[in-house]
Amino acid sequence: MVKYSYFGHACFLLDDGKYKVLVDPFLTGNPVASVSANDVAADYILVTHAHGDHLGDAPDIAARTGAEVVGIPEILDICTSMGTDVKGHGMNLGGSLNLPFGKVRMTLAQHSSGVPGGIACGYVIYIGGLVIYYAGDTALFSDMKLIGQKDRLDYALLPIGDNYTMGLEDAALAAQWLGVRHVIPLHYDTWPIIRQDVAKYKELTEKMAHAEVHIVKPGEDIELA
Ligand code: NI
Ligand code: MN
Repeated sequence: MVKYSYFGHACFLLDDGKYKVLVDPFLTGNPVASVSANDVAADYILVTHAHGDHLGDAPDIAARTGAEVVGIPEILDICTSMGTDVKGHGMNLGGSLNLPFGKVRMTLAQHSSGVPGGIACGYVIYIGGLVIYYAGDTALFSDMKLIGQKDRLDYALLPIGDNYTMGLEDAALAAQWLGVRHVIPLHYDTWPIIRQDVAKYKELTEKMAHAEVHIVKPGEDIELA
């Protein structure tokens, strides 16, 4: 059993009862954040790209908690250049990293990176016997089919806000292409520009894909199984 806690925008925590994996911790300045960067716990921090709404508080949280930051080397360089003393593990697209809770694999994302020479990514996270795909910020791309072919995905965490990422229809098609069992939408309703009708997304996706959509509000958590 893995607990999914949603802190708003694209920030969430996976907790297998022993290890806490914090992802894209944008909390300071996040209008819907349900927790403060000073209070959140983490053993590992996964970062998908250097935009402020993803890298966010990662350096500060890592410095306070001792959590290891995982990301592309250019992201770790940013953390280092901020003068914070953080543990980091650099990796790149297609690579896997074994960690005490399981494994993470860095996947392609179609999005700008927010750092010169960088790329944006997503992650497949193997934790608590589950395979969880977090797409990061991305457009719909056909290689999502390969991600779903390589692993039987239990959950996909998909951006649906449009403008910066996929919108409702593309994110519903993504669920179909991934062949995933469960979908949790995120990266919407943070600001007016990415306001979305999430109920409509659920209806559309459950019609187009064999997936159940779980709507989780900032501050809520659910058990993944
Ligand atoms: Ni972005
Ligand atoms: Mn974003």
